This record gives sequence, structure tokens and C-alpha cells, in this order.
Amino acid sequence: MNKIEIRAKIIKKRSAVPQEEMLRLSHCIQKILFDLPQVRKANFIMAYMAFKNEVSTVEIIEKLLFRGKKVLLPYVVPKKKLIIPALIENVHTDLVKGSYGILEPNPNDIKEVEPSKIDVVLVPGVAFDLRGNRLGYGGGYYDRFLIKCRQDAVFIALAYHFQVLDDLSHVVETHDQKVHYIVTDREAICCR
Ligand SMILES: Nc1ncnc2c1ncn2[C@@H]1O[C@H](COP(=O)(O)OP(=O)(O)O)[C@@H](O)[C@H]1O
Ligand SMILES: [Mg+2]
Repeated sequence: MNKIEIRAKIIKKRSAVPQEEMLRLSHCIQKILFDLPQVRKANFIMAYMAFKNEVSTVEIIEKLLFRGKKVLLPYVVPKKKLIIPALIENVHTDLVKGSYGILEPNPNDIKEVEPSKIDVVLVPGVAFDLRGNRLGYGGGYYDRFLIKCRQDAVFIALAYHFQVLDDLSHVVETHDQKVHYIVTDREAICCR
């Protein structure tokens, strides 16, 4: 299977997960995520808002803010295929629907932060493998963003267990950025 076929297969699987089950699995992921020392230590954390049946992050963001973390969300610039990290203070009041219908920081009040400040990036995606290879939706947004982050920044994918495949090395390309950890509803995987 090529990138396109793998994406289609996993997206199909994911869209079949009922809402209730999605929230239950997202809750398992949340618990495992908050046990990671990298997350506990982090000051600036880039999160994302779920699109369709992605792992839900609203509660994660609420808790990060409650713990005093600086939370950033991507502001999407579709023309340039770029995401800009912007600070938010309230996940319920600070966001508006942006490109692709995803909630994002209000364009009238973007508090942009240098990528070099970010300690942890929570990375969405369609499929991952045990080495940290990642397939997104085909826009390359995160590939362009992650290369701007610090060498010691930690990239953590959030994924349901069925999004983790054995090996994607035959389909990834040189521009594809890897993640360091994958947190699923079952475990935290340290990628090597
Ligand atoms: N750093 C980059 N600079 C320029 N183009 C890039 C970069 N990263 C990715 N791209 C381009 O973005 C497109 C989509 O990338 P791809 O890896 O297939 O998507 P995704 O990561 O969303 O699954 C590709 O045509 C790729 O060449
Ligand atoms: Mg890619």
C-alpha cells in the first residue's frame, strides 16, 4: 500500500468509531499522557483541536491550562500550508472555526509564539509506526512546522491503537518528520 491507500484505510477505520467509544479511548490516552515526565516538566505545550474522529483534546487542554502550562494551538494559513503557534487561555472562549472547520485561535487576536519556546508538541495524524514515522492528511503542515522546533523539543503523537502500524518506512519521504512518542489508549510508545 502507498501513502494514499494507507491513509484511506485508517481514516475509514477511525470514522467507524462511535462517539462514546472515541471519548472513552481519548480519556485513556489523556491519563497515559499526563503520566509522562516530559509533559509534567513542560512549560510551553503545543496542542491541537480534534478534526473529525481524531483523539479528543479538549479535556487535555483544559487540564494543561489548569496546571499553569502555556498552551498553544495552531493557527492555519492554508495559502502557505503553514501553521502558526498561538497562545490561548480558554479553550471554550478563545477559539473560532478556521480553515477546514477546525477550531483555532481567533485571527483578530493572535498571540504568536516562537517555535523555539515550545517544549512539547502534541501531534495529530492518520497513521504512525513504531519508529515514529508519521502520515498526516497530505498537506505537509506538521512536517513544515516541526522542523522549526528546538532539537530537544518532544513530539508526542496522540493516536488510537489501530493507528499504529508496524512499519511505514517504505512510504515515508525525506521531508517527513518523526515523532518521539506515541500515546495510545493502551500505552506510551517510545519510538526509536
Ligand atoms: N518542509 C517542507 N518544505 C516544503 N514542502 C514540504 C515540506 N514538508 C512537506 N512538504 C510537501 O507537502 C506535501 C505533503 O506532504 P506529506 O508528507 O505527503 O503530507 P502529510 O505529512 O500531511 O501526510 C508534499 O508534497 C511535500 O513535498
Ligand atoms: Mg508528511
